[in-house]
Amino acid sequence: MSQPDLHPVPDAFAAAARIRREDYERLYAESIRDPDAFWGRVAQRVEWMRAPTRIRNVNFDPADFRLRWYEDGELNATVSCLDRHLATRGDKTALLFEPDDPAQPAQRISYRELHARVCRLANALRNLGVRKGDVVTIYLPMIPEAAVAMLACARIGAIHSVVFGGFAPHSIAGRIADCASKLVITADEGRRGGKKVPLKANVDAALKLPGTQSVETVLVVRHTGGAVAMQMPRDRWYDAVIEGQPEQCDPERMNAEDPLFVLYTSGSTGKPKGVLHTTGGYLVFVSYTHEAVFDLREDDVYWCTADVGWVTGHSYIVYGPLANGATALLFEGVPNYPDVSRFWEVIDKHQVTLFYTAPTAIRALMREGDAPVKRTSRRSLRLLGSVGEPINPEAWRWYFDVVGDGRCPVVDTWWQTETGGILISPLPGAIAAKPGSATLPFFGVRPAIVDAEGNLLEGEAEGNLVLLDSWPGQMRTVYGDHERFIDTYFRAYPGCYFTGDGCRRDADGYYWITGRVDDVINVSGHRIGTAEVESALVLHPKVAEAAVVGFPHDLKGQGIYAYVTLVAGEADSEELRKELIAYVRNEIGPIATPDHLQWAPSLPKTRSGKIMRRILRKIAENAPDQLGDTSTLADPSVVESLVQQRRVM
Ligand code: WT7
Repeated sequence: MSQPDLHPVPDAFAAAARIRREDYERLYAESIRDPDAFWGRVAQRVEWMRAPTRIRNVNFDPADFRLRWYEDGELNATVSCLDRHLATRGDKTALLFEPDDPAQPAQRISYRELHARVCRLANALRNLGVRKGDVVTIYLPMIPEAAVAMLACARIGAIHSVVFGGFAPHSIAGRIADCASKLVITADEGRRGGKKVPLKANVDAALKLPGTQSVETVLVVRHTGGAVAMQMPRDRWYDAVIEGQPEQCDPERMNAEDPLFVLYTSGSTGKPKGVLHTTGGYLVFVSYTHEAVFDLREDDVYWCTADVGWVTGHSYIVYGPLANGATALLFEGVPNYPDVSRFWEVIDKHQVTLFYTAPTAIRALMREGDAPVKRTSRRSLRLLGSVGEPINPEAWRWYFDVVGDGRCPVVDTWWQTETGGILISPLPGAIAAKPGSATLPFFGVRPAIVDAEGNLLEGEAEGNLVLLDSWPGQMRTVYGDHERFIDTYFRAYPGCYFTGDGCRRDADGYYWITGRVDDVINVSGHRIGTAEVESALVLHPKVAEAAVVGFPHDLKGQGIYAYVTLVAGEADSEELRKELIAYVRNEIGPIATPDHLQWAPSLPKTRSGKIMRRILRKIAENAPDQLGDTSTLADPSVVESLVQQRRVM
């Protein structure tokens, strides 16, 4: 391995690292040779009420499908995240809250305090009739109550479904209806970059939409103090319901395979699916990966900038770090408020040692030049992480050289909502990095590359990324639709879990994720299904048909490109274009806002009527010379007119 772009593990880092090169090789080999022994041992890192004796029971073959880890074990996730730290870390800061407005004081919540807050809410939820197996929807800003709410659900065996605070009423309603949620926890308003987000009003609007009658109670956290309409008896103030609740609450005894949460994510077809994670395997996996990948030490101050509304927030703000007794920073704000030094100022203010963010944020801040970074110290940092989308080598180098001053290893962590935790990433003391590569698999993870026909490719290869075996944090089902789970992930390549990602493996065995190969767009590290945006567009009375594709975008990684055919007799106009873009934003949420909307008098289709997205992608990319085979088009002139139009846009 003598490529110029190889970044060996810094000597000083390797000397003190938890896992070094030789450990990685030995442990990886063992994890593959004897997964039962390996994962049986790792399972001891969490607190069990009854220790598991059966470690794994897995078969990816749809005809005899089994996906169970630690199936006779019993535990409650919050005991590992809270109770067990009380004796040794009671006064240690569990959550360090940095508000949107830097002039407001930061808050330190100790493990003792967090335990008490979780228990009080858990008791209140029980009093409100929430029982084991019920679903609670959480629609909150990035405030401590978000973590408290998740853990309070886990305490009593309720399944939480966190909905990202950027989603609009229609998206909230769909997610409530799908899992028949009984209770919603929200706040009066959120705050981001000095602006207010009308969370309670969005919930009110969502609960007027069909399918949401299951909701009996809405708890409202008073956060900004903004005026909200309370609808009695449905709506209750959070403060009022926890008032007087005891600071102790017996944890519900859960089987390892009882659900912990659902989290909705976009797929290539249909509505977002409820990714279901269970208790034992998930907790073992996120706590172990968090410790190993971030080389966690007792005195670290760890900051993951993700929102708890995404899986990164679930696994690597709440469950992983708290199970490890770490101090996790929770940031309400955005990278560019009050100015573009905010991230680096927060790092100095709280002496952050481990920093985990997304390539889209790195690229946006890189654009602002080095000065906003260089006017801060960042001496406390010892490791940098990246997640959510492929990181382009230029952004990787800027992150390493400028943000980390060339001292801190960068871990580019590849994983998915479905995988629960990190599957491919350098271990920072063990694996030399190559900018743009997620490098090598974590323990127990068996990546492989297959061609379109499903043939396994050996050595240097490019194709579709699959996983040959299970890991404890794997999703167990799609909530309420097990067939969809099997069909989506286990039918394309028999015996394998299909990731939906394209991937290249180089001569050193390093993995390079090339992006989604299905109809999912990765916008700023967030998944948007093309089908979802299309459904939103065709809800508009003037739209007859819509086709949506991704295209390369400098800041967002991918942008959203919509082709729209209007109903016969409707004239296109600049106003209508703006109206349709705003319409999607209001239906789904700001992250789904199309970057471009092109009028399409008709769409390129095969003779059987299937839209040829491959061609639409090339037109969106402005690469009409790469359209490829167009011989199956029903009407080739359609493409010609779209290309002409694109040229003048
Ligand atoms: C998709 C999963 C993992 C938590 C955040 C996103 C892409 C994620 C990387 C990375 C290249 C990445 C993949 C994956 N992705 N991390 N380090 N390098 N691509 O979770 O919303 O479920 O999206 O994000 O395409 O399939 P998600």
